[in-house]
Amino acid sequence: MSVLAIDAGTTGVTALIVAENGQITSKGYEEFAQHFPRPGRVEHNPEDIWQATLAACATALRGASSEPSCLGLTNQRETAVLWDRRTLAAPRRAIVWQDRRTAEVCGRLRAAGHERRVSELTGLRLDPYFTATKLTWLAGHDPGVWEGVTSGNVAVGTVDSYLIARLTAGARHVTDPSNASRTLLYGLSSGAWEPELCELFGVPMEALPEIVPNYGPLGHTEPSAFLGLELPISGVAGDQQAALFGQTCFDVGDVKCTYGTGSFVLANLGGEIVRPDSGLLTTVAWQTPDGERTFALEGSIFVTGAAVQWLRDGLGLIGTAPESEALARTVPDSGGVVFVPALTGLGAPHWDPEARGLISGLTRGTTRAHLVRATLEAIAFEVRDVVESMTSGSVPVLKADGGASANDLLMQFQADQLGTAVERPAVQETTALGAAFLAGLGAGVWGSRAELRKTWHLDRRFEPGERDDAAYERWRAAVELAMSHRS
Ligand code: G3P
Repeated sequence: MSVLAIDAGTTGVTALIVAENGQITSKGYEEFAQHFPRPGRVEHNPEDIWQATLAACATALRGASSEPSCLGLTNQRETAVLWDRRTLAAPRRAIVWQDRRTAEVCGRLRAAGHERRVSELTGLRLDPYFTATKLTWLAGHDPGVWEGVTSGNVAVGTVDSYLIARLTAGARHVTDPSNASRTLLYGLSSGAWEPELCELFGVPMEALPEIVPNYGPLGHTEPSAFLGLELPISGVAGDQQAALFGQTCFDVGDVKCTYGTGSFVLANLGGEIVRPDSGLLTTVAWQTPDGERTFALEGSIFVTGAAVQWLRDGLGLIGTAPESEALARTVPDSGGVVFVPALTGLGAPHWDPEARGLISGLTRGTTRAHLVRATLEAIAFEVRDVVESMTSGSVPVLKADGGASANDLLMQFQADQLGTAVERPAVQETTALGAAFLAGLGAGVWGSRAELRKTWHLDRRFEPGERDDAAYERWRAAVELAMSHRS
């Protein structure tokens, strides 16, 4: 038996065939277009996401030895998508999680004194990152489309809901608690859409999807819409929660960090809702078919791998992202250079949408190797900032995954900075793997979490060595400066 797992990420869609032993036997990947209509705005055409999903799945299925037993889905979270309930066509582009256009909506609601209540209900904060203010903005700026929402013709959702609608040819309009808990409309305690929040953000509750558990019978693909296949859809989760599941972080206190465009540190909280006051979020990790919910503490860092991409595309300092490791190794340290990659403001734990990136400590002797090394160090410092606000300062072990976890220099530097071992699994496509695990549990491919744990294998463990605290102090000072820079 095998599982087809779809990871609909921010820049592309990955499809994997995952065998019962947890190994990936086939893979497809398809990028889609990014739209930046104005500074600070990021949009996706939903049809592009769907076509990329079909293409990635077709490639993965071509390499499969037999038809998979079920399908699992994971996705970029928070992005607001609208589609016509009848035709499934999107009347406009989606507003992506990275989009900052609603900073003003957030400021207005904060000034009116709503932040405390919103945080109390949702575990989140008033930041443009989350879905609800994107919908408030649409209601005000795209009245023609919004009329469809209020009249019931147009459905509202996140990328998971949209893709499930497409996979089922419109039969299902659902989401799961891990995605719902990123919208600012879902009550953490109630486990349901909150009428008070729907009213505050001006979102009609009838337009929202039904919230279903993270695994179990969630629907099935419609052959005429999806490559001639009728597969049970039996698992779904937001990508960071899926990665937590894929890393088998099933116990309270287990922590993972996924190093992608941004980096997202999640710690398993078990069944308890802990409300941090240190710039972190509380979110639903997953919900079982019998209604038991697990929560997670999250530190969302917006720009980490994207800073390496900026070195490549913005500055032309490197030809490919993996080159960064070899170049950084040519110097013993960053030579006093500090780079704060606040390229889209700062997320956790600082939450300053107006902060701007900066590079400090340049001298006549600074080379591109120093800048590249400072960028890798910045990623580790950002993660240290989050982990230190997450706990009393240490975690037993950090499980790392995502593209940049392949960078040994970064992983060692991370272990040194945290004073904690960092473990990298053999399978680093942990996000899609998590979706496969959820779907496989839901459809009976695996019988228990204990079975899933047996499929997790270590690639390499990085033990903490000597820690450069002076460099970290320079970083903290530079972050303060980045927060005082205003555009
Ligand atoms: O919250 C945003 C996150 O879900 C995006 O993840 O991996 O698509 O950049 P990714």
